[in-house]
Amino acid sequence: MTQASTTAHPELSARATFPAGFAWGVATAAYQIEGAVAEGGRGPSIWDSFSHQSGTTIHGDTGDIACDHYHRWEGDLDLMAELGIPSYRLSLSWSRLQPTGTGPLNPEGVAFYRNLLAGCAARGITPYVTLYHWDLPQPLQDDGGWPARHTASRFGDYAGLVADALGHLAEHWITINEPMCAAFLGHSWGMQAPGSKDDRLAVRAAHHLLLAHGLALAAFRERRPEAKVGITNIIGNLNPATQSEADRLATEHWDAVSNRIFLDPVYRGRYADSTVAAYGQYGLTATGEGAGGGDLVQPGDLALISAPGDFAGINHYTNMLVAAGDDTGTPNWQHVRPTPSSFGWSDTPEALKTVLKRVASEYTSLPLYVTENGITLHDYVDPNGEVRDTERIHYLRGYISAVGEAIADGVDVRGYFAWSFMDNFEWAEGYDKRFGLVFVDYGTQRRIPKQSAHWYGGMIAAQQDGVRPARSTAGATA
Ligand code: FCB
Repeated sequence: MTQASTTAHPELSARATFPAGFAWGVATAAYQIEGAVAEGGRGPSIWDSFSHQSGTTIHGDTGDIACDHYHRWEGDLDLMAELGIPSYRLSLSWSRLQPTGTGPLNPEGVAFYRNLLAGCAARGITPYVTLYHWDLPQPLQDDGGWPARHTASRFGDYAGLVADALGHLAEHWITINEPMCAAFLGHSWGMQAPGSKDDRLAVRAAHHLLLAHGLALAAFRERRPEAKVGITNIIGNLNPATQSEADRLATEHWDAVSNRIFLDPVYRGRYADSTVAAYGQYGLTATGEGAGGGDLVQPGDLALISAPGDFAGINHYTNMLVAAGDDTGTPNWQHVRPTPSSFGWSDTPEALKTVLKRVASEYTSLPLYVTENGITLHDYVDPNGEVRDTERIHYLRGYISAVGEAIADGVDVRGYFAWSFMDNFEWAEGYDKRFGLVFVDYGTQRRIPKQSAHWYGGMIAAQQDGVRPARSTAGATA
């Protein structure tokens, strides 16, 4: 690392270091916060349709209003600036920008995002923009959705239009957020939009989401060569539940179908043999070249998908023990040391360090960004008007320390984005799960920074001041 590094806040691990210019941020996604689904010329997306079908989300919650960020974005950015958060990862709603998924961009949508991105700049906040965080325009779903190859082309066209209209307003662009969830939670598990339960559709969607990434990267390279572009994958840490051969194989299988299916094509230019072994039955081939190619992976696809990007985005939430499953071949998994988090996920920061080291050693020397990491708790406003989310502070302290330790060990990590800036519509879990650093009282849309928001802002300020406190005498400067 050529730039000077700073040590961390006294509450972080003493080994943690962060390079100068490290991006400290928070993240959100359009459908989870914007609301205003029928305003500004926005068209329906698969999440509008899905959340309005009965039984798909908790209590029938929808993103119709969500955090009403569409109308409150200025106050939200003011709050972010007040809290001292310098970087903001947000997503663009495809159906707000291009309501039917084809044709010219909607000027009102463009104006909204121009104002939002200019509003970030005006407050000294650096935006990191995601082109696709799961909200496919419904007309494209009606035309086959992600299982149809032409959807990837539509996305490439959309990316080109966005590059032209908004590309000058941000330096960092994330093409696709978590193709794993979009493909499998949406098409195989049926728990996210569009809600199908068909492995074949999921595998097709997976490949086309990767192809869409490749086409969007190419569109940006052509129109905005100065932009820094990458894809964000969700990467869980997996270990066998026991030393048995069966559990080892189950872990390998789960890794092949949840992690490697997205990492290998992007960073190694081919699907792993273990992934092809699992999904060859649905037409997946290693490269699409030569004999044995089918209609899914076509010649040239992997060259597009693996064209060098500028960074690798990593979302990390889960640490699992995997055990061999029953006759269906489906592995069983459980979270390591489940916590009081309202999802029962783990608070095991070493898992994030392992994931970062794995990506750096097995996949890419590109800079890594932790584009999401966070915890959902049973947060409430106490009688003093405070939200004392001490478990979230504990979580952040641990995971941020793990990132800093990975950096100290030589991994090139350039940023960390806490999920999420504020509580929001947590997909099928509706408003039941609160991941925010800022509490949202949905009935009044009041924002109340939780203790963690103040902690995070303070930690960032200490970093940026180059404070290098002796662990027993906080306040000494470097
Ligand atoms: C990730 C999603 C994000 C949010 C968090 C909790 O998988 O990208 O939108 O739902 O999980």
